[in-house]
Amino acid sequence: MQRQSEGAPRNRTDIHTLEAVALAATHSAAMASHAWVGRHDKDAADAAATDAIRQVLADAPGRGTVIIGEGEKDEAPMLYNGETLGNGLGPDFDIAVDPLEGTKFCAKNLPGALATIAFAESGSLWSPGPGFYMDKIVVPPQAKDVVDLTDSPERTLHKVAQALGKPVSELRVVIMDKPRHQKLIARVLQAGAAVHTPAEGDVGGSLEVLLPTGNADLLLGIGGTPEGVMTAAAVRGLGGGMLGRLAPQRDAEADAIRAAGMDLDRIYSCDELVSGDAFFVATGISGGSLLSQPRESDGTVLAESLLISSGQVRHISHTTFGSLPRMAGLPS
Ligand code: FBP
Repeated sequence: MQRQSEGAPRNRTDIHTLEAVALAATHSAAMASHAWVGRHDKDAADAAATDAIRQVLADAPGRGTVIIGEGEKDEAPMLYNGETLGNGLGPDFDIAVDPLEGTKFCAKNLPGALATIAFAESGSLWSPGPGFYMDKIVVPPQAKDVVDLTDSPERTLHKVAQALGKPVSELRVVIMDKPRHQKLIARVLQAGAAVHTPAEGDVGGSLEVLLPTGNADLLLGIGGTPEGVMTAAAVRGLGGGMLGRLAPQRDAEADAIRAAGMDLDRIYSCDELVSGDAFFVATGISGGSLLSQPRESDGTVLAESLLISSGQVRHISHTTFGSLPRMAGLPS
């Protein structure tokens, strides 16, 4: 990570230390929000995850600036854009964070909730300003050079299928199940591809596209900007392809973006969303195909994370002595 605070050299030790901090942060968020799995209170779950991450990052060696934190669009608990965290004794770095990605999955005890964070070289994360939503395409490395956000969905499918060496009928496309995507889903189905429509979670959907073990070939549609920037860190790490464009969902959001001098037509490449060294970390909260949920075994708690950085995916098992945190105030 670059732009060191005074006297702190840039070296592998810094990066390993920051990776360990990021893993500790998402692990702590997963533990805290796991107590809220199935409690039908997404804000309480989000608040628990956010507090846990903030506490870990407060002691991070260096100075991390939250470039994009999640919460504002849903008026949910958040780490604020511009908030700085850390003890100042190390490198400066940028943070994109969603302590609880898939709040409803967690609240309803459905698979897919993750604690997520990306750290990047200082000054290298794109800030969407007042933009909450963006249109995204995420593809695996073989298709990274063929996609274009101005193409029709049919043309995109055709190009991606060709790049992956399979017919469109064998493509598996992830599109979140949102009213705004109804026409897109219908067109992709009509073109012959299979569509997976999770209720939410386009970071998880993108990981399904990017990871060699994943179950999808392409992600399309409009999701959150923080999720977009975090996804870009994972895409960059794995050499995949991603394009994004602001896609405001309300007039006030569009007006605020224009007032900030940003161009609504501009398409951002992955390297513009994350322009420097970066890594992405996620820990499982409610289980699913990517990461299992924290569980107790023989006096220990087991949890699972993945860390994606420059060409590497590392699966990390956390084993801690004790039991899972319980929600306070429940009848025994
Ligand atoms: P949260 O659980 O953090 O709110 O995000 C879930 C999510 O589905 C993201 O994966 C996605 O990018 C975004 O919300 C889409 O926003 P909305 O639900 O408002 O359409």
